Amino acid sequence: MTRVIVVASGKGGVGKTTIAANLAVALSMFGKRVAVLDADVVMANLEIILGLKNPPVALIDVLKGRLEISDVMYEGPEGVKIIPAGITLDGFNEENMEMLKAALREIPRDIEILVIDAPAGRDAAMVMDEGQEVIIVTTPQVSSVSDALKMKLLAERMGAVTIGAIMNMVEGKARELSVQEVENTLDTNVIAILPEDEVVKEALAYEEPFVLRYPYSEPTKEMMKLAAQLIGRNYSPPPASLLERIINFLRRR
Ligand SMILES: Nc1ncnc2c1ncn2[C@@H]1O[C@H](COP(=O)(O)OP(=O)(O)OP(=O)(O)O)[C@@H](O)[C@H]1O
Ligand SMILES: [Mg+2]
Repeated sequence: MTRVIVVASGKGGVGKTTIAANLAVALSMFGKRVAVLDADVVMANLEIILGLKNPPVALIDVLKGRLEISDVMYEGPEGVKIIPAGITLDGFNEENMEMLKAALREIPRDIEILVIDAPAGRDAAMVMDEGQEVIIVTTPQVSSVSDALKMKLLAERMGAVTIGAIMNMVEGKARELSVQEVENTLDTNVIAILPEDEVVKEALAYEEPFVLRYPYSEPTKEMMKLAAQLIGRNYSPPPASLLERIINFLRRR
């Protein structure tokens, strides 16, 4: 059975899509067969991060019963299969929630891991189900963590299992919550800490995942480490050669 990892958050704009896309590519770099699904049918943007241009059909066509999930899977970087959301202004309702759950059962068997980019807020519950693993993304601010806690409880009520939290956009300022505080509040481990880093925005502008465009950056190291941990592998960041460091430096400018 395909392992399903949902990337969720309480607050919007904390980095779910960025993390889902890069985690999927990182897992694929370890040789896993991975698909990533954009479950945000209102504000879809996963495909942009992954450089997929104007997909003609998308998840929304599956939810409307017009296509099978395998018809809306596109080839992405490192062989990751992308399932774009498509656009609807209506969001999720009971009917398409059932269609989504049915569609998830039809994910081709050769896909080992499906990463789901969940919508922010309560719509996330629509995609969550028993047997899924959930990663909660939060920034190190009180309001973000308290909303993250609500999402964690919601996920667990839907029968999903929280496997940890990711702290994103960490600047190292004294006013920020510490790892310990986040872990205590959410009652789960912090499994990755991503700094606020220009490379994330740069990569977005180039419509390329940062794990590919900036292989020696701090966010990449964290994503690769997390991907390795999720599949029980070891990872030590590659020492960059002088030439690679120069190329990396020039690309960052
Ligand atoms: N670690 C980071 N450093 C710098 N910028 C970041 C970082 N993580 C995310 N961002 C930027 O923050 C913005 C929001 O990120 P993203 O779209 O991934 O969040 P989201 O949680 O999916 O948002 P939404 O709730 O709207 O779906 C993007 O412009 C992204 O490039
Ligand atoms: Mg998003």
